[in-house]
Amino acid sequence: MIIKNPQFEVSAVRENQYPKNGLPEVVLVGKSNVGKSSFVNTMINRKKLARTSSEPGKTRQLNFYNMDNLFYFVDLPGYGFAQVSQAEKDKWSKFIDAYLTKRENLCGVIQLVDLRHPPTKDDINMYEWLMHMHKDVLIVATKCDKISKGQWLKHIKQVREGLKADKEQKIIAFSAETGQGVEEVHQWVEEQINNYLPPTTIEE
Ligand code: GTP
Ligand code: MG
Repeated sequence: MIIKNPQFEVSAVRENQYPKNGLPEVVLVGKSNVGKSSFVNTMINRKKLARTSSEPGKTRQLNFYNMDNLFYFVDLPGYGFAQVSQAEKDKWSKFIDAYLTKRENLCGVIQLVDLRHPPTKDDINMYEWLMHMHKDVLIVATKCDKISKGQWLKHIKQVREGLKADKEQKIIAFSAETGQGVEEVHQWVEEQINNYLPPTTIEE
């Protein structure tokens, strides 16, 4: 999969601001600062399309990135970010929840976790909820460049056990610095969009 012309299309909060062209969407979830925006940039080989920051809480809306009119990556605000007010958190969780539960264009969820550490409580809750909702999930374990390759398997096991994910669950070691894992993620995304049925063709 080669993305030739990725475009930032729209920042949205309400449903009526989401794109209306029926393209499939792959959404990124994960705690603040785990590397969701960096992930988008790495996947499309652009340094700065999605805004990243060493300060958590950079992404504050749903950002839709159009991938050659084939699909969207949807970058969400991170969860578990302590520095925002409770009111702001409630607002975020409302629109994130609305997106994840109702959006028919959603064809896959990429949950990012930090490969270096055991999953947080928020990571575990999110994964449990995604399983409960029968979503197709890919776990991307980021920042693998920060630990030696010999340790990856042990850490992947830690992620799997922490999330209580079964052995069928794909978990990919990923690095926005080295590009490790990019090919495998592209493959997964390709499968998801190939299996996607546009909302209008879905009948009750
Ligand atoms: P929010 O928008 O706050 O939810 O954060 P985010 O998940 O979008 O994280 P972002 O992509 O902004 O990255 C946070 C910090 O981690 C930045 O300083 C990135 O440079 C760094 N980072 C992200 N991915 C990697 C990685 O794979 N390796 C290393 N070494 N650093 C990374
Ligand atoms: Mg971000």
